[in-house]
Amino acid sequence: MRKKVKIGLLGLGTVGSGVYRILTEGNTILTQKAGMDLEVDRILVRNLDRKRRVDVESDLLTTDPEMILNNPDISIVVEVLGGEEPARTYIEKALRAGKQVVTANKEVIAKHGVELLKMAREEGVDLFFEASVAGGIPILRPLQESLAGEDVEAVYGIVNGTTNYMLTAMDKQGLDFAEVLADAQERGYAEADPTADIAGHDAARKLAILASIAFNTRVPLDKVYCTGIEKITAADIAGAAELGYVIKLLAIARRVKGGIEARVHPALVPQEHPLAAVDGVYNAVVVQGWAVGTLMFYGAGAGQMPTGSAVVGDVIAAAKNIASGVQGKARVGFAPGAPVVPLEEVETRYYLRLRVVPEPGVLGVVTHLCSREGVELVSLDIKNWGQDSANLIIRTQLVREGAFQRVLKTLKEEPRIYAVESYIRIEGEE
Ligand code: NAP
Ligand code: HSE
Repeated sequence: MRKKVKIGLLGLGTVGSGVYRILTEGNTILTQKAGMDLEVDRILVRNLDRKRRVDVESDLLTTDPEMILNNPDISIVVEVLGGEEPARTYIEKALRAGKQVVTANKEVIAKHGVELLKMAREEGVDLFFEASVAGGIPILRPLQESLAGEDVEAVYGIVNGTTNYMLTAMDKQGLDFAEVLADAQERGYAEADPTADIAGHDAARKLAILASIAFNTRVPLDKVYCTGIEKITAADIAGAAELGYVIKLLAIARRVKGGIEARVHPALVPQEHPLAAVDGVYNAVVVQGWAVGTLMFYGAGAGQMPTGSAVVGDVIAAAKNIASGVQGKARVGFAPGAPVVPLEEVETRYYLRLRVVPEPGVLGVVTHLCSREGVELVSLDIKNWGQDSANLIIRTQLVREGAFQRVLKTLKEEPRIYAVESYIRIEGEE
């Protein structure tokens, strides 16, 4: 008789219902791959009466986590609750109870992954988290396995589906911020608190995980610089388009002299760059390696079924390890770290839009303030020259963040400059 592995599902929301569908509807083929029958034994939810996106027998549902965490028959726990607590505590309890754990929770992994991996090793079990980065795109296991021989130089891309969906709709359909956010939430892309998406925290968590795996060293979340898309306006999108760019929220980690650069922020990307074509809920992760060159991983970065697919891939890996008796044998450790370099030392190009007094002398003032800090300009265009004000659109050469911030400060203090309306980094140009 074939062995059966019982699964406890913590959560039956967007991701949990995708996981349930794949496990139940694709069961025969999954059984062959896992070498065992896979059975969802119990599902933890908050509200037993909520209408579900999948048909689930009501006696599978519980509001008592102990029915899963304390159930000796359950060997694999899948955590898709979201949030830091109680998710972290439940993962810890499951590991301590000797269960294999699969999670999609980037917040927990980015903040507590190192201690939880150590715990899993102590308990002789595995902790898998492929779905925590870039939804349905397989990226962590390829980095750990297929690219294990690679010396990764950079890993960067679009890792948040909600903000990419929003920026695309604002750009292509001219929709406003609040309208597209509500749509992204309705589609199940956004976090329970969408501030995590909008403010870039979700992408920063993913980058901390991605960079730690890519560089085999711990990149702490609190060292990842992070700005979101809250301040991006229709004027920024239109201004970028006029110059041949699109605006994307990028997550960038790169080996540089003295350590690792790790940052999340909106950026102008040239329209011909491969990342510029990544639209809607799609994500893309570019890996640059010493031997392999440049690779790009592309696919749905959020949503019920794509994320469910990544979770179920991990469930099969967890079941296979049980079937072959090798739980907890994978060596997941980080080498002593290269430091994350301070933002002030990072070099990027900038797009800058100023509203100024419409007097010819103002151009000289701006170029002087820039050159005083060694900030060279690629272009300076004048727009909307009127009675009361004019706009200056500036693109810089590569500039150190520290020098750029000093220029910004003096521009803001200069009386002939009414406002620094926008400043956004430019990425993807040689
Ligand atoms: P969701 O739709 O809000 O679903 C959360 C589920 O967990 C719900 O079924 C909820 O129960 C249950 N739950 C939450 N807190 C609970 C508690 N304290 N006790 C019992 N049950 C609780 O969230 P989601 O979008 O599926 O996201 C789940 C996780 O996957 C998050 O870590 C998220 O970051 C990650 N993720 C999401 C996506 C995506 O596309 N959505 C993609 C990749 C990763 P009720 O249904 O009864 O309220
Ligand atoms: N809220 C996340 C996003 C879910 O939009 O990318 C996938 O991790």
